[in-house]
Amino acid sequence: MREDGRSPRRLDARVRANETVGKDCLLLTLEVPEIARIIEPAQFLMLRGPEGRFPYLPRPFSVCDLVDDRGADGLLQVLYHVMGEGTEAMAGWREGETVSCLGPLGHPYTFPRGDFTPIFLAGGIGIAPFPLLARRLPVDPRKAILLFGARTADGLYGFERMREIGVQERLATDDGSAGRKGTAVDLLVELLETEPPENPVVFACGPTPMFKAAQAVVQRFGVPCQMSLEERMACGYGACVGCAQAISDPTAVEGWRYALICTEGPVFPAETILYARPSSGKESPACSVLEKGRDS
Ligand SMILES: Cc1cc2nc3c(=O)[nH]c(=O)nc-3n(C[C@H](O)[C@H](O)[C@H](O)COP(=O)(O)OP(=O)(O)OC[C@H]3O[C@@H](n4cnc5c(N)ncnc54)[C@H](O)[C@@H]3O)c2cc1C
Ligand code: FES
Repeated sequence: MREDGRSPRRLDARVRANETVGKDCLLLTLEVPEIARIIEPAQFLMLRGPEGRFPYLPRPFSVCDLVDDRGADGLLQVLYHVMGEGTEAMAGWREGETVSCLGPLGHPYTFPRGDFTPIFLAGGIGIAPFPLLARRLPVDPRKAILLFGARTADGLYGFERMREIGVQERLATDDGSAGRKGTAVDLLVELLETEPPENPVVFACGPTPMFKAAQAVVQRFGVPCQMSLEERMACGYGACVGCAQAISDPTAVEGWRYALICTEGPVFPAETILYARPSSGKESPACSVLEKGRDS
């Protein structure tokens, strides 16, 4: 546990707004000053609804943005996609209700020393942590480039906020209904091949297939990349061991080991993430105990 006043705390958070901002996508504004003042980009919260109401287990969400730049008004925002029963219940949270919030959890993205060109690689709701990250950049956000892909045009939500901050955007959709036909990773290849920025650093967030494709690309071009991984989480602080991810680790006996995404991540250097176990070549995703034990 950290002793610097930044340790995670379980707090009551008041719902200030919960508005639909896109197809199956809502922006939740919570009043929780203790966390708003210290949260860092890609750190996350475990959110659970009002006492006695479903879902009984909390769900993990990054903080998308703060209403006041430094959280002085105590308001933080979560951009979320309705995926299943938990997020469906969340969509019903009303202004004035009190929900349970544990955070801040996990480790944030980190910035390199000196000048660099930030590249945000977002797949779908993976855009969520980037507005806060863009606000905290140590370089001019107008240098930054958002490469944002979704299945269809109505999945491209949230990038207007990045535009307001000054970030340039390039969009892609699988069906070509907005932006280029293709994926966010296609946009990355195009950028690195045709107009490579100076000292690029990629910050990625999205689904596993995007991470796998991006990992190969950043390796090919020798570009540093941090990936904020997502996994089902029951506790968020290392107790349930439900969010294990294989990573390379030269100090481990076999050169790799499992890391808990909630406590060691969610951000990992791209080159450390192992999607196939080195010894077997078999797929090696999280050994999720939640597969069996989800709450109802
Ligand atoms: C660190 C972290 C930060 C996250 N930040 C955000 C965010 O800012 N906004 C947001 O919309 N979502 C975010 N997520 C994902 C979010 O937690 C899940 O979408 C949510 O828990 C789904 O709950 P549910 O009960 O609605 O869906 P369930 O009924 O549990 O699942 C519905 C479907 O979603 C899949 N699913 C469930 N959880 C995850 C997950 N963690 N990753 C990928 N697929 C999942 C299931 O396999 C299933 O197919 C984050 C996850 C993590 C680990
Ligand atoms: S979510 Fe419980 S150990 Fe990571």
